[in-house]
Amino acid sequence: MKAIICQKYGPPEVLKTVTLPKPVPKDDEVLVKIMATAINSADVRIRGLKVKGIMKLVMRMVIGFTKPRKPILGTVFSGRVEAVGSKVTHFKIGENVFGMTGLKFGTNAEYIVINEKANITLAPMNATHEESAAIIFGGQSAIYFLEKAGIAKKSNIKVLIYGATGSVGTAAVQIAQSHNADITAVCSTRGIAFIEKLGVNKVLFYDQGEFEEHTSKYDIVFDAVGKASKKKCRSLLEKDGVFKTVEGMEVASEARSQLEKLKELFEMEQYDATIDKVFPMDQVIEAHRYVEQGRKKGNVVLLIG
Ligand SMILES: NC(=O)c1ccc[n+]([C@@H]2O[C@H](COP(=O)([O-])OP(=O)(O)OC[C@H]3O[C@@H](n4cnc5c(N)ncnc54)[C@H](OP(=O)(O)O)[C@@H]3O)[C@@H](O)[C@H]2O)c1
Repeated sequence: MKAIICQKYGPPEVLKTVTLPKPVPKDDEVLVKIMATAINSADVRIRGLKVKGIMKLVMRMVIGFTKPRKPILGTVFSGRVEAVGSKVTHFKIGENVFGMTGLKFGTNAEYIVINEKANITLAPMNATHEESAAIIFGGQSAIYFLEKAGIAKKSNIKVLIYGATGSVGTAAVQIAQSHNADITAVCSTRGIAFIEKLGVNKVLFYDQGEFEEHTSKYDIVFDAVGKASKKKCRSLLEKDGVFKTVEGMEVASEARSQLEKLKELFEMEQYDATIDKVFPMDQVIEAHRYVEQGRKKGNVVLLIG
């Protein structure tokens, strides 16, 4: 099979396409023919070891000291079940599935084997593989942080989403909408078309100073890009309000229930994949360069095969 490997930490050019043996599923595993993955902020961060201070050492310990121990990067996939182990009961050959491998990585390849009880489920029936791959990373992260913030606890909850045009931000807007939240989005003037497409009408432009001047109070303030001043965010909280940020020690954990929520919302046509660009597999370096700029709107998809 064709796979993209990361030979050492460094710029996008460290990525190389190679041919590797096709994996064989164990009794409780599913073999998925991957059709699409996404290149996310986390992928470029890992490839370039782009973390600060003590986190660099932590990341080397977790992922590998001089290069990723698992050379095939990529954490999300959409594809078709090609074979199942003898004890698999949840999936059948030919079904479309999507999921996230997290620290097991491995989705920048034509095939992957994954335990049937892991973070994998049937893909939304009305989604293309590009769309299914696009919605996972931001979607699972946004569900994690907003649920932790208690979005389901109150009706008409007031939520401010800072950095609303990224993968996590566009997902957070849509997850908050699914809870009928009263949403204020903070983005740049460059992002207005994306935000309007999502149906948000309360928008603050950070590049025009509107966020810094803002004084309304919110039940939840979610910094979905990790670039807002924590002091400013906390000043916008109601007395019992909750602040969450993607930047810090809290790491989103993945659960199949999150994938199922995304599938349900997508099938009800209440969720947009917010795809910015689609790259073919042989342009993975260009895809990494684009994502690394930190300016993408929504998601970047890599077609596999
Ligand atoms: N802790 C966790 O578990 C966890 C989980 C997921 C993600 N993350 C982290 O969360 C961050 C965001 O991830 P992502 O995938 O959503 O990133 P992304 O898609 O690459 O975010 C890019 C977006 O952020 C906007 N942006 C850039 N600078 C901004 C600023 N100063 N203020 C507001 N918006 C700004 C950009 O638009 P403009 O330039 O036009 O503003 C662009 O639309 C990453 O650092 C990632 O590592 C953490």
